[in-house]
Amino acid sequence: MCGITGIVTSNLDNIGELLVKCSSKLTYRGYDSVGVAAVHNGRVDLRKDVGTIEHVNRLLGLSRMKGDRGIAQLRWATYGAPTKANAQPHFGCDEVFYGAHNGNIHNYVEYKKELIDTGHIIRSENDGELCVHAVDKYYEETGDMFEAVQLSTQDLKGAYAYAVGRADKQEIYAVKMGSSLVAGIANNATIVSSDLPSVLPLTNNVIYLADGEMLVLTPDYVKVFRIEDGKQLERPSQISNVDAHAAEKGGYPHFMLKEINEQPKVARDVIGILESPMCEEWLRLLEKASRHYLVACGSSYNASIVGTYYFNRLAGIPMFHAIGGQFQPMYGATMDENSLCLLVSQSGETKDILNVLNLIKNENYGKALGVLNVIGSTLMFQSDSYIPMACGYEVSVPATKTYYSQSIIFAYLAARLGERNGHIDSSEAKAFISRLRDDLPSLTQTTIDRTGILAKNLARTLTDVKDLYCLGYGFTDGVAREGALKIKEICYNHCEGMYSSEFKHGPLSIVTKNYPVIFVTTTEDSWMVINHINEVKARHGRTIVVGELEETLEPYVKNKQDYLVVPKSEILINPILDVIPLQLLSYYLSVDLGINPDLPRNLSKTLTVD
Ligand code: BG6
Repeated sequence: MCGITGIVTSNLDNIGELLVKCSSKLTYRGYDSVGVAAVHNGRVDLRKDVGTIEHVNRLLGLSRMKGDRGIAQLRWATYGAPTKANAQPHFGCDEVFYGAHNGNIHNYVEYKKELIDTGHIIRSENDGELCVHAVDKYYEETGDMFEAVQLSTQDLKGAYAYAVGRADKQEIYAVKMGSSLVAGIANNATIVSSDLPSVLPLTNNVIYLADGEMLVLTPDYVKVFRIEDGKQLERPSQISNVDAHAAEKGGYPHFMLKEINEQPKVARDVIGILESPMCEEWLRLLEKASRHYLVACGSSYNASIVGTYYFNRLAGIPMFHAIGGQFQPMYGATMDENSLCLLVSQSGETKDILNVLNLIKNENYGKALGVLNVIGSTLMFQSDSYIPMACGYEVSVPATKTYYSQSIIFAYLAARLGERNGHIDSSEAKAFISRLRDDLPSLTQTTIDRTGILAKNLARTLTDVKDLYCLGYGFTDGVAREGALKIKEICYNHCEGMYSSEFKHGPLSIVTKNYPVIFVTTTEDSWMVINHINEVKARHGRTIVVGELEETLEPYVKNKQDYLVVPKSEILINPILDVIPLQLLSYYLSVDLGINPDLPRNLSKTLTVD
């Protein structure tokens, strides 16, 4: 995933400062390499190199670059290794065109050959460079920038967004074809970017875009056009109420810890959304469908597994859950016009999920209900309906509050659905929902407060561990997988998340003296999980428990710090709380290992590539 930012101002000398200030908010989208192309007195000054924006700015003085317009790009490598040559932005054949993209050009190999065969000078192995050459090619033919941009999209296949300009023209042009793009209007300046956080430092007067649209930016206006026929579209700007400072750390050492601590507020906010009249539409979609699917990736997938248990228990509805890339081969043939797919994606831009969305639309596979956090995302615009996760921006690459919000959404919807289809009686549903609304925020705060120090102490004893398991059972199946994913993502350790009853069927062989196995349990399942703990204990493994304090479990935990005790709650709220000590454990272990949990190596917050 990458992040592009283009700005045009009437001020002639501070474009570098503006581009660094705005584009640095996209660090979570890529930090393999960074570049800025700035236009000053009709000449393009292009500076780029590998590393974070802070590093490259120190190296090349990006924020001192002069000019009144320019494009910045933060890269997460897909095509072409993270090198200076492959960093973006790129020139066209000569140093007149400049531009950068985000996304994937699927016909990269053949189109690159076509361009080279027709005399284009291609300098990199990066697919984004072809966007600039495509415009260059058609400008040569038409002499018109608008037409050249329009025609370029005929050559470029895939899911992408790009921004491009010419040294001798004040305008910057941008295209949205499958990757996220948003624009903003400030005083004497306009901006286009992959994501809202980089627009907000300049303005909260925002224009959301849809695929198949292109923009023309000048210091005074942003004009939106339909690429297909060049028709100008009326697209009024909106005031975004996303607090720009929300994208700051708020006093915490890392965004991840800040976002873990925002979870009590998320509980209140997302339940507020669920109790609004909008919920009626979501419940109707759920009720009308003959078959239901939960499709997601990464942490969103782990939350979807938890959701499957809620829909089973509370609504008696089987939710077929699948990883985005798995869905078509696993369930494609079972879909029909009466199916409902819950597409769960905090960014709303994960390509593996948008592929499923396109499949549903192209094959008339019923309805798509988006569960998403980023308003203005492709998933938001293209779903039949969407449930906002109400988390505010999640900046840290490892998901925490968005996973937590998704768990609450599934628990709530399952209870309401079960009440409506009679699977549970109304009093049970109402009692559960009132506990979600009235107790969960404070229980979440208590869990953070109590397990923070426990997790910190436990983390210190795991700094030499390179390999471990995290096991769940029943409702904590998805919770354990999420705990394992967190440890993998930000501690760079191999931690496998799996079902605890399955551990004896093979993986148990890995256990030797002190080999650590984490068991995540609820009071409802501990009678069973104790057998699985025993199987590890009997082989002198180190058993670590996450859950409420239970006398039956205490003897199986050798050292006090190996029991991450979660406050007492009811069985169906427990799984939502159990993830918190695991989030904190992975966070403190990551910090102990000298890793920045917000920007783990090789990863990106949003993957808009296959
Ligand atoms: C990965 C992120 O790239 O995408 C994970 O690193 C995330 O944190 C996963 O869970 C899915 O993202 P989304 O936006 O579809 O929920």
